[in-house]
Amino acid sequence: MTTRRLERIITSVPTADGAGVKLRRSLGSAAALRFDPFLMLDEFYSDNPDDYLAGFPAHPHRGFETVTYMLDGHMRHEDSIGNRGDLGPGDVQWMSAARGIIHSEMPQQTEGRMRGFQLWVNLPARDKMKPASYRDIPAREIPTVALDQGGEVRVICGSLRQADRSASGPVHARSAVSLYLDVRLPAGASLEIPVDPQHNVFVYLYEGEAAVGDEQRALPTRAAGLLGHGESVRVRATDQGARFLLLAGAPIGEPVVQYGPFVMNTRAEIDQAIADYQAGRLAAA
Ligand code: FE2
Repeated sequence: MTTRRLERIITSVPTADGAGVKLRRSLGSAAALRFDPFLMLDEFYSDNPDDYLAGFPAHPHRGFETVTYMLDGHMRHEDSIGNRGDLGPGDVQWMSAARGIIHSEMPQQTEGRMRGFQLWVNLPARDKMKPASYRDIPAREIPTVALDQGGEVRVICGSLRQADRSASGPVHARSAVSLYLDVRLPAGASLEIPVDPQHNVFVYLYEGEAAVGDEQRALPTRAAGLLGHGESVRVRATDQGARFLLLAGAPIGEPVVQYGPFVMNTRAEIDQAIADYQAGRLAAA
């Protein structure tokens, strides 16, 4: 099996979004830093409520999916098509904004740690104007695979087999994402994961130290590592152990025109999204 090389490192940069939530953005911190079909990855992590309490009040999306994964804390979600949920530790929300949705994402705690991720995944042109859909996946529905060397993998999307153990994640939507794993490896442990050779694959190391590929190239903490071609991914946790996300997705191969929370194929479609939003039509049935 050809092992993928760590070819490009996108270090996360501090930024703020919503009503002033402090976060770190790796993918998507500049237009050139997308990795088809992945548009953006934000990590929010703070023990200081001033960094997150303002939340993300009502805002629109069109043309893509948002996938929110909570590690610590609580976030309430409400949207224009009547959905409401409270995401807690280990929960996932998979939302296909598609034609349009207006929603709010508000922390439901006044103290303590808030930690999690929001991933933006593009939709192909044929799906961008379909009705919005939404799914909350509670932590108990996300299977975990224990590893021989210690550690474990949560399978949020796709399938994983290690030794005689396997699991399939609960998300099988029309998403381009084929694999979304949350991996915890103890110091010195390594993991090899087969991936679709046609798909783009990246790793986001959010805690500890890791070396990627046969070359054992170090990936800095809080950075996304984009991998080259190959049939498998190999990650080794060095001295401190490692926690990381591993994402694989089928490239869409279409032009991307983004204006804030609207991601379409052409400038005219962006103008239409803005007009629809201003006229109150964005999230209409
Ligand atoms: Fe949002």
